[in-house]
Amino acid sequence: MKPKILLTGKGGQVGSELHCFLPTLGDLVAPDRRELDLLDPDSIRRVVRNIRPQLIVNAAAYTAVDAAESDEANARAVNAIAPAVLAEEAKKLDAAIVHYSTDYVFDGAKAAPYEEMDPANPISVYGKTKLAGEQAIRNTGVPHLIFRTAWVYATRGRNFLLTILRLATEKEELRIVRDQIGAPTWSLEIAAATTKIVAQVVERGSATSAFSEVSGTYHLTAAGETTWYDFARAIIEEASHTSQSIPWFAAATSGRPLATRHIIPITAQEYPTAAARPAYSVLSNSRVVPKFGVVLPDWRTQMQRCFVSESIPAKLLAD
Ligand SMILES: NC(=O)c1ccc[n+]([C@@H]2O[C@H](COP(=O)([O-])OP(=O)(O)OC[C@H]3O[C@@H](n4cnc5c(N)ncnc54)[C@H](OP(=O)(O)O)[C@@H]3O)[C@@H](O)[C@H]2O)c1
Repeated sequence: MKPKILLTGKGGQVGSELHCFLPTLGDLVAPDRRELDLLDPDSIRRVVRNIRPQLIVNAAAYTAVDAAESDEANARAVNAIAPAVLAEEAKKLDAAIVHYSTDYVFDGAKAAPYEEMDPANPISVYGKTKLAGEQAIRNTGVPHLIFRTAWVYATRGRNFLLTILRLATEKEELRIVRDQIGAPTWSLEIAAATTKIVAQVVERGSATSAFSEVSGTYHLTAAGETTWYDFARAIIEEASHTSQSIPWFAAATSGRPLATRHIIPITAQEYPTAAARPAYSVLSNSRVVPKFGVVLPDWRTQMQRCFVSESIPAKLLAD
């Protein structure tokens, strides 16, 4: 039997891709923020009890990393309290939960890819609230898959890729941080990998027993690593031979030609932000690959695939 799936965050980078993929696995119910406000635990309980899903996929989050520094209560409500309530409700229904977390749970002091068991030590409010969300889900004892991902971008929303494309049409010179290392990951790859993994689990049987067998935290990012500076260079190089006939690209550049001639590497210290970011936050995917046989391509291949992706899926545009 196809499970009933409740998806949160269908308007987000990862959520919008899941909104396209998850109907292949079950009956999808995807309330938007007006129908399910994660700032309001009573709203969460009411909606979950009404829908009675076998699986909750929580793609919603408070992702404004810098704003979170001065808006901790709301960041905590969405990133820590809401996942706790979703997990408690899932447990009562004998359901399972899929949740996303972040490389920013680590402090960045390591010099080799982080494993799932490495101690977390977030250095930002966002990272702290996301870690609290992970822990709350684990504490309920509900069968769960927590996927930690990183440096997410998409052809929609607010992200580094779209910011660089806009700036590249406006400025002759860009100054980009070179002393932070991570793995830029395309939202569509995260959603596709999630769907493949959930499909495998669902095939094994009922939500509770099948998800219990694989329950845990998994890193799920693009392979390889780069800096924001090298990512920006790669974006502009790719953009230089991308056609304006690709709708999302035309929207990102407002149909204008590239103006950037120089990209200057700078340090994080030269680009102060409200939130501190880890200097090194590459995650090792060595747990998810053998467990589920799902391998995400390296960051550059993902970016190239993103550039030739046609457009926002029509289904989303129709919503
Ligand atoms: N973005 C990154 O670079 C990054 C990096 C590592 C991990 N992650 C994690 O990956 C997951 C997906 O991130 P993303 O980049 O896809 O996020 P996103 O694009 O910022 O989307 C967040 C979604 O959450 C929804 N949301 C926020 N507050 C809400 C509330 N009070 N009630 C209901 N919905 C609410 C938003 O709704 P609206 O559409 O109404 O705004 C939006 O649909 C998150 O768990 C995030 O922490 C992201």
